Amino acid sequence: MASPQQPRGNLTISTVAMPADANPAGDIFGGWILSQMDIAGGIAAARRARGRCVTVAVQQIAFHLPVQVGDLVTCYADIAKVGRTSLTVNIQVWATPHYEPTEPKMVTEGTFTYVALDSEHKPRPVPPE
Ligand SMILES: CC(C)(COP(=O)(O)OP(=O)(O)OC[C@H]1O[C@@H](n2cnc3c(N)ncnc32)[C@H](O)[C@@H]1OP(=O)(O)O)[C@@H](O)C(=O)NCCC(=O)NCCS
Repeated sequence: MASPQQPRGNLTISTVAMPADANPAGDIFGGWILSQMDIAGGIAAARRARGRCVTVAVQQIAFHLPVQVGDLVTCYADIAKVGRTSLTVNIQVWATPHYEPTEPKMVTEGTFTYVALDSEHKPRPVPPE
């Protein structure tokens, strides 16, 4: 899939992919990317729900392009749906070489669902915006 020209959603986290995040072939491990996406989606969900949220499901994820050690990796989060207690967040990951900035490319995208929790770990209604 060709990378879109503009990210969708709010820039939520940005970090540099380190050598320790690589797989045995030298590219960045998909599980590390997934973890960054979950952090970004969790931030977006907690902001919207104004409190604690947990990940309940990952609906889909697509790794379009490899990420290299040293890439600047940025996650954009977009709240796609708000249910009674759940929030579904679309997340795009964009990468650009750290030392030779070029046009960022969308490398991964996915959809994560979070549930807002109360202090007893029970689902709580998401407040109105
Ligand atoms: C999140 C958790 C409290 C939900 O409990 P539950 O008994 O399934 O709660 P409910 O059945 O009332 O569902 C709550 C909401 O989640 C949604 N949901 C539950 N399972 C889902 C799934 N697999 N996919 C999408 N949405 C789901 C429900 O549709 C409901 O949404 P709504 O209120 O907007 O209609 C419980 O599953 C849990 O603690 N899971 C572990 C979370 C965790 O440890 N995550 C990893 C670390 S963050």
